[in-house]
Amino acid sequence: MDVKNGAGILFVGDVVGGIGRRTLLSLLPLLRERFEPTFVIVNGENVAGGIGITPKNADQLFDAGVDVITLGNHTYRHREIYPYLDEHERIIRPANFLRSQPGHGWCTVTRDGVRLGVVSLSGNLFMNAAKPAFPTADEALYALRDQVDHVLVDMHGEATSEKVGIGWYLDGRVTAVVGTHTHIPTADARVLPGGTAYITDVGMTGPRGGVIGVKREQAIESMATRMPVRFETSDDDPWLNGVLIRAADEPMRALSIEQLLEPAPRDVR
Ligand SMILES: [Fe+2]
Ligand SMILES: [Fe+2]
Repeated sequence: MDVKNGAGILFVGDVVGGIGRRTLLSLLPLLRERFEPTFVIVNGENVAGGIGITPKNADQLFDAGVDVITLGNHTYRHREIYPYLDEHERIIRPANFLRSQPGHGWCTVTRDGVRLGVVSLSGNLFMNAAKPAFPTADEALYALRDQVDHVLVDMHGEATSEKVGIGWYLDGRVTAVVGTHTHIPTADARVLPGGTAYITDVGMTGPRGGVIGVKREQAIESMATRMPVRFETSDDDPWLNGVLIRAADEPMRALSIEQLLEPAPRDVR
């Protein structure tokens, strides 16, 4: 069998706070055993106490065998990550940020003879990315041409319409387009007709008992009173939300995408 056949890509949605990290780290060995993924990619924009990422958090994820960390609108919350983003190849922030902002927007990783490109993009609707996502996707694919067999795009966006749009825009040109940022998984995982695996939002690896990561009583107070409230990360009812994509032998094509919604084991709760 060709080693490329069915290479698995495990993608884990926004890991939120210590509870999200512990959920991921405790479930990862089980998911590796069950699916034998060739690549593990994690959105890490919320790992540091719910917002941003520190070098220590990133090292911990890489030490656990994560191949690539993608980020989003919370990339620059912690200053100590700025040089780390420039120095480390396999942690990426949205490619449509300014060139002058720390870090880079795509990377490549090779495992078992399969070359995977990973691209981070931010939506433009209700988001603060400086450059448009669609032409930046073209730019990234042009830069990665001849270097990779497969490409996964993490489209970090608020608007479902924009994420569906980029899925269709890239259908047949990349292996997978996965949405992140809303922290709520969508029920539309499928392989598009051109062969690209797609989901509008993978969801969150963190406390389902909160409000997209925040303690629910604080979020409710803020929404109900319209007064400032200090937010803390919830640790109530942690789950892992992810997808498992099987890449085809043929470049830039997927065989399948399967949604993974896993409660954290008892010892993490
Ligand atoms: Fe997030
Ligand atoms: Fe985000």
